[in-house]
Parts: sequence; structure tokens; C-alpha cells
Amino acid sequence: MALAILLLHLSLLLTPALAVEFLFNSFAGVTNLTLIKDARVDVSVVRMTNDSNQYSYGRAFYPTKLPMKTASNSSRISSFSTSFVFSILPQIATSPGFGLAFLLCNTTSPPGALASQYFGLFTNATSPSVFPLLAVEFDTGQNPEFNDIDDNHIGIDLNNIESKFATTAGYYNASGAFVPVRMRTGQNIHAWIDFDGENLQFNVTIAPIGVSRPSKPTLTYRNPEIANYVSSDMYVGFSASKTNWIEAQRVLAWSFSDSGPARELNTTNLPVFELESSSSWLSNGAIAGIVIGCLAFVVICASGFYLWWRKQKGREEEDDEMEDWELEYWPHRFSYEELSLATGEFGKEKLLGSGGFGRVYRGVLANHTQVAVKCVNHDSKQGLREFMAEISSMGRLQHKNLVQMRGWCRKGNELMLVYDFMPNGSLNKWVFDRPEKLLGWEQRRRILVDVAEGLNYLHHGWDQVVIHRDIKSSNILLDADMRGRVGDFGLAKLYTHGEVPNTTRVVGTLGYLAPELATIAAPTSASDVYSFGVVLLEVACGRRPIETSVVEEEVVLIDWVRELYAKGCAREAADARISGEYDEGDMEMVLKLGLACCHPDPLRRPTMKEVVAVLLGENPPEAPGKVLSDLVRCGGEPDEAAPLQPSARV
Ligand SMILES: *[C@@H]1O[C@H](CO)[C@@H](O)[C@H](O)[C@H]1NC(C)=O
Ligand SMILES: *[C@@H]1O[C@H](CO)[C@@H](O)[C@H](O)[C@H]1NC(C)=O
Ligand SMILES: *[C@@H]1O[C@H](CO)[C@@H](O)[C@H](O)[C@H]1NC(C)=O
Ligand SMILES: *[C@@H]1O[C@H](CO)[C@@H](O)[C@H](O)[C@H]1NC(C)=O
Ligand SMILES: *[C@@H]1O[C@H](CO)[C@@H](O)[C@H](O)[C@H]1NC(C)=O
Ligand SMILES: *[C@@H]1O[C@H](CO)[C@@H](O)[C@H](O)[C@H]1NC(C)=O
Ligand SMILES: *[C@@H]1O[C@H](CO)[C@@H](O)[C@H](O)[C@H]1NC(C)=O
Ligand SMILES: *[C@@H]1O[C@H](CO)[C@@H](O)[C@H](O)[C@H]1NC(C)=O
Repeated sequence: MALAILLLHLSLLLTPALAVEFLFNSFAGVTNLTLIKDARVDVSVVRMTNDSNQYSYGRAFYPTKLPMKTASNSSRISSFSTSFVFSILPQIATSPGFGLAFLLCNTTSPPGALASQYFGLFTNATSPSVFPLLAVEFDTGQNPEFNDIDDNHIGIDLNNIESKFATTAGYYNASGAFVPVRMRTGQNIHAWIDFDGENLQFNVTIAPIGVSRPSKPTLTYRNPEIANYVSSDMYVGFSASKTNWIEAQRVLAWSFSDSGPARELNTTNLPVFELESSSSWLSNGAIAGIVIGCLAFVVICASGFYLWWRKQKGREEEDDEMEDWELEYWPHRFSYEELSLATGEFGKEKLLGSGGFGRVYRGVLANHTQVAVKCVNHDSKQGLREFMAEISSMGRLQHKNLVQMRGWCRKGNELMLVYDFMPNGSLNKWVFDRPEKLLGWEQRRRILVDVAEGLNYLHHGWDQVVIHRDIKSSNILLDADMRGRVGDFGLAKLYTHGEVPNTTRVVGTLGYLAPELATIAAPTSASDVYSFGVVLLEVACGRRPIETSVVEEEVVLIDWVRELYAKGCAREAADARISGEYDEGDMEMVLKLGLACCHPDPLRRPTMKEVVAVLLGENPPEAPGKVLSDLVRCGGEPDEAAPLQPSARV
């Protein structure tokens, strides 16, 4: 009797009918995966997306569902163990990355799933709901809107693109040191995921092929809430997506078990995917000859076909070909190789910053000129063309107070703009971020005049009005002589032409945006004047336009200054750290000018021409007196103070 009970217990424990256990050392010939959308078995690997579809996504699942809860006790959740090998290979290393997700879901098609940065898996719902969907993301891009920690991380996602927990990709070696692993180089990466159903804990470990399994997991995440995202049975698999940039996500091998550790993968003969430039396989002479012969033949056929096709399709264009419109006007077209060489292959150590428009790298050209290379991604060819027409004329804009553009380069949809390097960085650093190197009033005053003149040139010095759209202190750069120069002019336009993935942001920056932009879409030179007004105020007050660390009345800089002005004590807003350095009347004039530029009614703001005149202490040439009498009515508040006179310059 006792033996019978023991046997019964054993058979319940082992329950072979429920166990899911499999091992794919290769996917060659595997036909029973459940492949959704663009996922497919490509020779011996699972390829998740289709390079030729713009918003492609794909999912690959094991065909049978995994029992996650036992029928008799639904609060008992099963454990599982899995290991797999993946490779993520972008076509352009600097393009935005998306990565790959391992997932469990009660359906192979979760409702509302989106491509691009959503892994073809999650919705864009701002208040996510509970749904049986759990994922471990291997994310190769940084989306600030989802609070991503960096552009190379592993995260735990509970039915939400915004990870519950994330950590930089890498592993702990035998001596306990963290060794980072770049997941976007195409290298084969071995991942192990252990899920402990009893404690509701995930362990995730990764290491490049060749490194044996690290004993300490990269990530450990424990949360009872996980239970809410588990249903009685779930599909297990992978999901990935792309936009215009090609990023090949591959799963090369996969082992899984829900009854003990997953079997070891044999990783000895896995294929390796690398960037096209690697040509070590050509070393074999005879094969090389044949291959080159074939390639030449293909190239000849292809170019013949291409010419024919071009004739057929008129002026439709393909990728990296130099196009007629690109030849017009431009100062200089750099080759990609030239810029890659100059910036150390766009190395991390050369990164000067990454902002709304892309990354900026520091570089040295072959002739020893220092440059800044701005990489802008763009996914709409039509928009790119229009934008480049715009920029082409901007390449001709030359003014001592603009950051001079030296040239450009295009590779696929990535545009690289080459500018003079500005050794002293941006203005904001000198006013807020580096108290030990604080700018004095004289220098601030001179830089404000420089910027006003640069902006005046954009608005009035050219046959067309060039609207900057994103004037702010971090876009104002200081050259070797500490003179102010306007950077990034015209760039914002890129974002109104094409669709830009990764962003739903309004062009411009919070705190500098003119109020009318909330209701009418088109920016004008008056909205630039508004942003410049904010810059005047922040430089005079030494405070950011929105400061969260102060009492509520002082959070929004403009409102605070306006209030002080209404009380007749505008000078109290001035930067206390430079008190005594400035002429009181001059400081007051700058503050009032700032408020006038920030007038809620765009029609009542001064023009840049008038602003320059006031800053220089001259009478405005066109509308003498108009600006200055308007000044006192800034914010629409009646004020009896005497109209401001153009002050004598200090
Ligand atoms: C799927 O196919 C593999 C071999 O190709 C096999 O080992 C596995 O048992 C199959 N799974 C199912 C659920 O059919
Ligand atoms: C990718 O998609 C295109 C059209 O959408 C299709 O013609 C092509 O066969 C697909 N490629 C692969 C490899 O599935
Ligand atoms: C169900 O499982 C949970 C967790 O394993 C356990 O705490 C609980 O006692 C079980 N309930 C029953 C009725 O077996
Ligand atoms: C998946 O779970 C959701 C929410 O619990 C449920 O509405 C849906 O019917 C389930 N789908 C399947 C295929 O089981
Ligand atoms: C979410 O995506 C849908 C479909 O793409 C779109 O219509 C909707 O505007 C998006 N919502 C938000 C809040 O982004
Ligand atoms: C672990 O990494 C650290 C830092 O990279 C290195 O100094 C150390 O030698 C490594 N230990 C082992 C056992 O590889
Ligand atoms: C997860 O990692 C922790 C810490 O290394 C370890 O104590 C635990 O046993 C691991 N859990 C599983 C399921 O591997
Ligand atoms: C791994 O696979 C290779 C061939 O692909 C084979 O030669 C080797 O014996 C295998 N190793 C193990 C441990 O099975």
C-alpha cells in the first residue's frame, strides 16, 4: 500500500504528459514552430524580421503551450529553465536599435502589438493593464520615453514596454568583475533564463559564445506581482521588430525544460554573422576567384537591370547612390569612410553627446581640422530629400555667430552633418552646470549679443527666413574665443517632414516653447524670439527655465520674473552669484527685454532686428520706440513704470 502511494506520488511529480522539454541545436529542417508575421526559418536560424518591410515584426513560438498552473491548485506556478543563442546585427552600427525579446504569452498574437520600439509585442497604452504577457527584453536601443537606462540592456517587462527592472548587458566573471557585453555587434550571445515559479523570480544570465556559463546571474528579479501576468498555460518564444533601419535579429539555438535544468546547447558549429566588411572567408584562393567572378557577373547584370529599371521608373531613387539633387549647392560631401576614420569608427569615447536629433561625435579630419559630426537618422526618403534641399541652402549660410557647417555625408537613411568643432561646449554648462567656471556678466552680455546677431541673420539676413525652432542654451555653443554661436539651425525642420520613430515629441524643448505652438502647429520667427527671450532670462538669472528644486512660485522662470517685474522689483531675479558685476540699469534692461520677447501675443514680440538694436543700445531702425514702450506691458499686465530707454551699454 505504502509503495503504491509512493509510486503515485512519483508519477504525479514526474507527470511526463505535462512536461515541455526540447532542444534545437540548429533550426535546420524545423517545420513545427509557430511563426507569426515576418518570422521565418532561414537555413538553420530563426530570423525575426523582414528587411524589406518598413515596419516589420515577427514572433516565433514553440508549437505547444506550456502549462504554468496546475489544475488542482491555481496559485502554484511552474518553474522553467531555458537557454538560447541569439545574434543582433544592424546594417548601420549607429542606427537606432530595437533588439529581441523572449516571452511567454497566453496567445501568439497579443492584441494591439506594435512594431518598431515595441518589439512587435507591446501596445502603446499609457496605462498598461494586466494581461498574461511576460517578457525578458534584450534591448539594443535607448528610448528615453520608456525610461530605458542605456542602449544595451536586459529588462523584465510585465505586459508593458517600460521595464519593471533593467540592467546593463554583461556578465560577472569568475573573480566577480562585471564584463559588459555589446549585444549589437552580431556576435553570438548565449542567454540563460531560469524562472522560479514558487518564489516568482527571474534569473537572466548572458555571455558571449566561448565564455562558459557565469555562476552569478546578470539580473535577478523577484516580484509577487509576476503571478498576475501568468495564465494557466502559455506559449513560449521570441519577438522582435524593426523600422526603416535593418537590424537582423536571429535565434540560432534553443533549449527548454519545465522539469529541471534545460539541456546544454552544443554551440560548437553555430554560424557567425558579422558586418559585411569582414572578408576573411575570401582567403581561400580558388573559391575567392569563383566568388569574385560570380559577383562581377551579378554586378554587371544588376547594373544593367538597374539602368533599365531607372529608365522605367523615372526619377525614383534607391539607396546609397549619389543623386542629382545631392550634388547641388552642398559645401562638401564627405565619404563615410572619411568620417568613420575621423571619429574612430564612431567610437564611444568620441561621443560628445546624444540629444533629440541624434548623436554627436568629435572627430579629426585627415588635414587635422577638428570637427563635430552629427548623425541624424531619418526614415522617410521623401522627407529626407526635401530636408536636404533645405539644408543645401543652409550650407551656404555663413555668419560669425553660426556654427559653420563644413559638409555632410549620407549612408542609407542616416545623414551625417559635419560642423566646426566648438571647444568650449554649450552655454548652459557655463551658466548652470559648472559653478567653478561661472561666466561673468561681461561675457554673458557679449554672448547674448552674439546669439541675437546670429539669429537676426537667420531671420533677416538671407533671402528666405530661416526659423531655428529649437533655440535654447544647450544649442548655443562657445568657440575658442568664448564667442557665442548658434548651432543646429534648420535641423528641427527634419522632424516635420518625415515620420520619426522613437519619438512623439513636439519639435522644440519644454520651457522654451512659445505658448501659441500648443495650438497652431507652425513655428514662426516670433516663436524663435520667444525662445530667445527665455535664453535672455536664464542667462541673466542663472536659472533653468523650469527649475523643480525651488518653491512652487519660482518653478517657471518666466512667470517668476514677470511677477517680480509686476511688483516693480525685477532686479531681484538677477543671478546673485554675479551681483556687483553688472550695471543695475543694464541688468534690468536685459530682464525686461527677455520678458518682452516672451510676450504671450506673438505679434507684440520684438523682431530679432529690434532685439539686437536694444542689446547694442541703439535705436531700433524700423520702429523706433515701439519695442520699448511695449516692453513695459509684457505679459499683458498694465504697468505705470516709465518706458524703458535704450540704455547706454556698459
Ligand atoms: C518539433 O520538431 C522537433 C524536431 O524538428 C521535435 O523534436 C519536436 O518534438 C517537435 N515538437 C512538437 C511539439 O511537435
Ligand atoms: C519580405 O516581404 C516582402 C514583401 O512584403 C516579400 O516579397 C518577401 O518575400 C519577404 N522576404 C522574406 C525573406 O520573407
Ligand atoms: C497551492 O500552492 C501554493 C503555492 O505553492 C501553496 O502555498 C498552497 O498551500 C497550495 N494550496 C493547496 C490547497 O494545495
Ligand atoms: C488570454 O488572457 C486574456 C486575459 O486574461 C483573456 O481575455 C484571453 O481570452 C486569453 N486568450 C487565450 C487565447 O487564452
Ligand atoms: C497608439 O498606436 C495606435 C496605432 O498605431 C495609434 O493610432 C495611436 O494614436 C497610438 N496612441 C498613442 C497614445 O501613441
Ligand atoms: C574578471 O574581469 C576583470 C576586469 O575585467 C579582470 O581584471 C579579471 O582578471 C577577470 N577575472 C577572470 C577570472 O577572468
Ligand atoms: C537565481 O540566482 C540566485 C542568486 O544567484 C540564486 O540564489 C537562485 O538559486 C537562482 N535561482 C534559480 C531558479 O536559478
Ligand atoms: C557538438 O557538435 C559537433 C558537430 O556539430 C560535434 O562534433 C560534437 O561532438 C558535439 N559536441 C557534443 C558535446 O555533443
